[in-house]
Amino acid sequence: MSFETCGATINNVLSEQTVEKLASIDKALTFDGPLTDWDELYLGFDLGTTNMKLVALNESGQPVSAVLNDSRSSIRDGVIVDYMAAIEGMEMCLKTLRRRLGDLDFTAMGAAAYPPGISQRTAQVCANIVEALGFPCMGLYEEPVVASVALGIENGAIVDIGGGTTGIAVIQGGEVVYSADEPTGGTHVTLVLAGALGISFDEAERLKRDTKSHRRIFNIIRPVFEKMGVIARDHLDKSGFLGKVPVVIVGGGANIEGAPEAISQAMGSEAVLAPYSMVVTPSGIAECLWRRCHGGHGK
Ligand SMILES: Nc1ncnc2c1ncn2[C@@H]1O[C@H](COP(=O)(O)OP(=O)(O)OP(=O)(O)O)[C@@H](O)[C@H]1O
Ligand SMILES: [Mg+2]
Repeated sequence: MSFETCGATINNVLSEQTVEKLASIDKALTFDGPLTDWDELYLGFDLGTTNMKLVALNESGQPVSAVLNDSRSSIRDGVIVDYMAAIEGMEMCLKTLRRRLGDLDFTAMGAAAYPPGISQRTAQVCANIVEALGFPCMGLYEEPVVASVALGIENGAIVDIGGGTTGIAVIQGGEVVYSADEPTGGTHVTLVLAGALGISFDEAERLKRDTKSHRRIFNIIRPVFEKMGVIARDHLDKSGFLGKVPVVIVGGGANIEGAPEAISQAMGSEAVLAPYSMVVTPSGIAECLWRRCHGGHGK
């Protein structure tokens, strides 16, 4: 599949190698064992509002395993509100990882990321969690920076539609030159669906994640995606980059048939969904850590 975005296609924007790596990390989420051999592990911890994600790379930077767990309300709008619950959530991910690696004891480097616009002190809590889990935190990155590294994009805009928020960041030369975060995300999509159909939040969430239901429910949830598009449009306009850079959507919130198109229409400019969009940020955290430890140009 190819998409038009600012005169380029997603196939031009992302290399085959990038797509393959994201595909294997996505596969690792449900693969009950290591994908490849490892001597050293580099762990990327993504403390999300809806999902905790853990990605493990080996000493060659190849994916070994990946785990996803519910965040259980320990994080709100990207900010940790229950420190102990966040640690427990990540401990569950680590338990799964350990089992998949054959219950071996291992040491590893760790890294985390934080949404743009929060204070350094609040961001530091993410690093503290990695350390509390027993790993030296060797990297603390801004989420859009790691997403751009995972996608191999030096210049572009990243729209991160997670559970709690829509984050917009413009990347130039690998650095964030504009960023904003607004409280509309996948959780709001679920709430609108639950309200419209008179069902519980959990039922609506199940329905939303079932790809077979996407066509049937899309008209109900379209306005939420249009709102995300308007948010992205207004911020990109303010940044001066609207229509001038490729826009790539990451995060799990827009992984619904029709959503990228509704967002693009409201933006008045094309936005394309990254392949395996939910694993882009955690992959980027592990990738930046691995590059840092191996002298690459990771931040
Ligand atoms: N198979 C799935 N597993 C988990 N979440 C899914 C799945 N499919 C879609 N989603 C949706 O993805 C959204 C969460 O995406 P993501 O994991 O990127 O967010 P997050 O990182 O937890 O949140 P944030 O970045 O806002 O802190 C939720 O709204 C959820 O409903
Ligand atoms: Mg996220």
